[in-house]
Amino acid sequence: MNKATYVTTPIYYVNGLPHIGHSYTTIAADCLARHRRLRGDDVYFLTGTDEHGQKVLKAAQDKGLSPQDFVDQIIPRFKEAWKKLDITYDDFIRTTEPRHIETVQYFLQKLFDQGDLYRGEYEGLYCVPCEVFWTEKQALENLCPDCKRPVEKLKESNYFFKISKYQDWLISYIKERPDFIRPDTRRNEVLVFLEENKLNDLCVSRPKQRLTWGISLPFSPDHVTYVWFDALINYVSALGFPTKKDKFDKFWPVAIHLIGKDILRQHAVFWPIMLKAIGLNPPFMIFAHGWWQVNEEKMSKSRGNVINPLDLIDEFGIDVYRYFLLREVPFGSDGVFSKVSLIKRFNGDLANDLGNLVYRTLTMAEKYFDSKIPELYEEALDPIALKELSPRMNALPSKVDAALENLDFIAGLVAIWDLIGCANKYIEDTKPWNLKKESKTKELESFIAVLIAVLRAVAREIEPFMPQTAALISAQIKPDRVSKGAPLFPRIDVQHVN
Ligand code: MSP
Repeated sequence: MNKATYVTTPIYYVNGLPHIGHSYTTIAADCLARHRRLRGDDVYFLTGTDEHGQKVLKAAQDKGLSPQDFVDQIIPRFKEAWKKLDITYDDFIRTTEPRHIETVQYFLQKLFDQGDLYRGEYEGLYCVPCEVFWTEKQALENLCPDCKRPVEKLKESNYFFKISKYQDWLISYIKERPDFIRPDTRRNEVLVFLEENKLNDLCVSRPKQRLTWGISLPFSPDHVTYVWFDALINYVSALGFPTKKDKFDKFWPVAIHLIGKDILRQHAVFWPIMLKAIGLNPPFMIFAHGWWQVNEEKMSKSRGNVINPLDLIDEFGIDVYRYFLLREVPFGSDGVFSKVSLIKRFNGDLANDLGNLVYRTLTMAEKYFDSKIPELYEEALDPIALKELSPRMNALPSKVDAALENLDFIAGLVAIWDLIGCANKYIEDTKPWNLKKESKTKELESFIAVLIAVLRAVAREIEPFMPQTAALISAQIKPDRVSKGAPLFPRIDVQHVN
């Protein structure tokens, strides 16, 4: 049986269109999914949308639409964006789908029946215009920290989940598994939080007087489910839990959740406890990546600096955007987006290194062998090919495997570029025109043949990162001949960029 891989992204709020932050997690997940498919795994790659709750309702109201009409209109735009970015998801879950609602209600009913949910009073400082509860610490001088208007004391009857009961279990669970929460900084952050604070029970409902856009509690028609409790369950509702046992049993034990660092607590504290209470194991791994800033500033609608991935791919191409996000910043660290750094990567790594290697290799095959791919004679290879190039080429798949096992996209790309750099240097050192002049035919044949082998290895390994580039390279190298195309990455003049 093939190995299974289950990779997920957060499900995105649909109060706006996808931006660079959303595309980052989705591209990283796609890269991992493609890599595992290439290696023969059975892959289930899940993304989707988080459609209930106050935020989405408000966005709908602003547009004068019912929430259902609003989400139905916006979902195709998410799917379109993912298609444009070459995202190969296997499933797209919407929290308004019956398959999801059924699973959420199953969770609620089971927790209620076993006594993990209880009814209680929720009291807090409420900002009516923002529709948010604040603690006393947050609402200094009784003012909403967001809009600075006065907050009021509000009391409402709600359902609470006894999460504190599972706190000690969770601490030991995390301690015993160094790879459960990654990177280590995030794991430590969660451990410190759990060790220094006693968890408050989680309020899992909202009264319908205040919010109706949500999943009804099966045992209390006057309440809807709190949006995070609803959303987290997508990771198992998409696998058909609790009815589709085979699919669930195959993929759940290997689940890898990729998330942003801002939603770590929900994923690393609430979610494992929800699962434990239901009798399920936590996911295999939670990896929290960092945040992108734009030109050193936080991205926000009010600053007007929100990056729309679709604009960038129109300007530079999909693969360049994917490459930049995965290559520029370690997955786990924060990063700064700027067009200038993107163009530097473009002109350096893509135009000079990769594009150049493809172009000059195929040009030589055209010139010396009339586009036929020559034979490779081991005995005619020189020491550089034998000692430098071939070992790198042979070790490449396992290096990329190891890198992606760690979600270290940079290490994977660096291994590929190490081979590209070595091949470029090989061309410079060998001086093929001399081989031609001296009629060293076998040597020249083997020289071109080994470079073609390098290009094939590169095309194969970069496919998860840059699927279109991989296809373009492969299309230029047929089984027995080459057909050279235009340069893959014509250099960009920085002066001409706005
Ligand atoms: N709906 C919740 C997730 C529920 S998952 C069960 C949510 N949605 S979100 O649309 O607001 O954000 C989704 C993801 O986008 C988060 O992981 C967040 O970290 C990521 N990003 C949003 N802005 C970002 C950047 N500027 N940079 C990188 N990622 C950021 O939260």
